[in-house]
Amino acid sequence: MYTQDQLKAMVAEAAKDEVLKNMAPGGILGVGTGSTANLFIDAIAPHRAHFAGVVSSSQASTERLQKHGFKVLDSNSVPSLPMYVDGADEIDPAGHMIKGGGGALTREKIIASMAKQFICICDSSKQVSVLGNFALPVEIIPLSRGIVTQELTKLGGTVTLRMAKETRSDLGQTPSQPYVTDNGGWILDVAGLKISNPLALESQINQIAGVITVGLFAKEKANILLVSNASGVSRITF
Ligand code: 5RP
Repeated sequence: MYTQDQLKAMVAEAAKDEVLKNMAPGGILGVGTGSTANLFIDAIAPHRAHFAGVVSSSQASTERLQKHGFKVLDSNSVPSLPMYVDGADEIDPAGHMIKGGGGALTREKIIASMAKQFICICDSSKQVSVLGNFALPVEIIPLSRGIVTQELTKLGGTVTLRMAKETRSDLGQTPSQPYVTDNGGWILDVAGLKISNPLALESQINQIAGVITVGLFAKEKANILLVSNASGVSRITF
């Protein structure tokens, strides 16, 4: 039996092969955030010369990429992005995802929207028939917390303000304070939703004043899923 970390490492390795095989040398790669994305960064590090640069979805990934010697580019300077590789908290049979467990949902969605192909990498524990077991992250403008909480509660969810797990002096946060995103936003985690129509719910939540981004990736769903389990890595296209 493999541990979850081994399954993540297997899929990260498969994603490296996928990217090196299908992306022409000299292109720019979009890179996600989280423990699986970290393993992907480590897997492609020896091949960094293949890429003219990368666009990163978080401060944490940027730091890891820079340590490995990648050129991290400003997304505004990038004309096109053939591929974006990132993990997910849940993925359904159509390739719709919940993302944002690591708090990077807004930049992740921006980069996903720039990319021709979203390659989702995860172990099979993230595959679900209906999204919603994982609490749905919603990044908000802090002063809208009250009204957005009311609106999200009307959808049938239980809303919790995400608190900081660790001290981040750059963002002035300690564990007794709200978690602050790289963009200065807060995150509401909405538990208890059964998301049967992800596209409709994404658009509905996006309409609430004060919402920066909802961590439902339905419009920007995965194009390819690389998923690992005890028998190896499968490749699914949507
Ligand atoms: C971060 C994300 C991650 O992709 C998601 O949380 C999965 O993380 P991990 O690979 O650590 O399980 O959306 O905002």
